Amino acid sequence: MKAIRIVDTDNGTSADITDMEIADLSDGNVVIRSQYSSLNFKDALAITGKGKIARKRPLNAGIDVAGVVEESDDDRFAPGDEVVVTGWFLSETRDGGLAEYVRVPGDLVIKRPDGLSLWETMALGTAGFTAGMAIKRMEDNFQTPADGPVLVTGATGGVGMFAVDLLARRGYEVTAVSRKADAEGDFLKKLGATNVITPDALDLEGKPLGKPVYAGAIDSVGADLLANICAQIQPYGNVAAIGLAGGPKLSTTVMPFILRGVSLLGVHSVECPQAWREQIWAQLAGEHKPAHLQTIAAETVGLAEVFGVCDKIMAGENTGRTVVDINA
Ligand SMILES: NC(=O)c1ccc[n+]([C@@H]2O[C@H](COP(=O)([O-])OP(=O)(O)OC[C@H]3O[C@@H](n4cnc5c(N)ncnc54)[C@H](OP(=O)(O)O)[C@@H]3O)[C@@H](O)[C@H]2O)c1
Repeated sequence: MKAIRIVDTDNGTSADITDMEIADLSDGNVVIRSQYSSLNFKDALAITGKGKIARKRPLNAGIDVAGVVEESDDDRFAPGDEVVVTGWFLSETRDGGLAEYVRVPGDLVIKRPDGLSLWETMALGTAGFTAGMAIKRMEDNFQTPADGPVLVTGATGGVGMFAVDLLARRGYEVTAVSRKADAEGDFLKKLGATNVITPDALDLEGKPLGKPVYAGAIDSVGADLLANICAQIQPYGNVAAIGLAGGPKLSTTVMPFILRGVSLLGVHSVECPQAWREQIWAQLAGEHKPAHLQTIAAETVGLAEVFGVCDKIMAGENTGRTVVDINA
């Protein structure tokens, strides 16, 4: 079988297409014949070696996979079932989805949700699932469209585009925040944003609180942008912290939390409990299916093209989601 495998080198790690045996995959009682995977920021970190994602090596890359069960010792799955795995430490400590086969414990597998094709599950992938999870966390904490506008940062990224689409579809007024507001503003409006602003427009120059303009936020960027956002959220609004595209450090004060009751909600899709996963996937497949799935995931590539796309993601030059057709 072929796989993009991450190995140690004298200068860190490198990744390449390798031949290996199914018997050498990480343990599990379900073997999946992969059809599609997708490329997320984390995949780009792992494949370019710019982030320490693969915590053991050699290890197959790919945090997502959709495919068909080949063999199963788990009563819940039979050969021929179409299934999906996202997160669960694929490409971190378990062999991942950029490979012709993946072997995992059945507890990590969900059946392909009715209403989504296998390609569509990977067009969404961890990015779409995480945007769905952020909205679930916010709405579980009483966020509603009537509360007012919601910010989405890193809006041209995978998580960001789905967050814009999903929020707009649910009736939220969305303000997209993008460094590419000029070039991609029209595109983001097509996805559902009402306004598109640059991160600079939210800068508070170190002030601990600004005007409480926004009802909530989904943030993929972190660092100063997240701190500035927390300080401009209305009382009892929610900020879902998803990413660190702008850096991991968060320097803020307690003011937004103690004077406005703002909630900073953590989103960790990797270990999202299976019961939540099924609910979130069912929503993504049903009434809240993104309206612009094909537009967002405009590119489908084969394994050999993954490396070039990952370089573009790391350079911040990629717009739109990339699906990987494992058998192309
Ligand atoms: N917590 C979780 O479970 C989870 C799940 C998925 C992803 N993530 C994290 O969420 C983030 C986004 O993931 P993704 O897959 O959507 O990545 P992506 O497609 O590469 O998008 C990231 C976006 O962030 C913005 N950005 C990139 N570099 C930046 C910088 N240096 N400063 C400010 N903004 C920058 C860009 O948007 P603009 O150019 O439009 O501003 C970019 O499109 C990543 O940090 C990823 O690790 C976390």
